Amino acid sequence: MRGPTSRPPWLLTRRSSPPPRRAGVEVITSCAQGVCGTCDTEVLEGEPDHRDSLLDDSEREIARCLFPCVSRSRSERLVLDL
Ligand code: FES
Repeated sequence: MRGPTSRPPWLLTRRSSPPPRRAGVEVITSCAQGVCGTCDTEVLEGEPDHRDSLLDDSEREIARCLFPCVSRSRSERLVLDL
């Protein structure tokens, strides 16, 4: 459950590129290439388009996280817990 100091979920769209940073939302990153896992973010709603090098195909099918430094959205809406 989200606490009172939690930030609101972030909405990505397919056209967002790269989504959070372009909109002025700060995401902690290190590699910015989808290889370190620093930006691991929970997906609250929608279907991620995983473009990282961390998850294999079977993990991508069930993962409720994504790495927003490189990933995008396959669905019309993708809501992240940032
Ligand atoms: S910053 Fe390294 S995976 Fe996103």
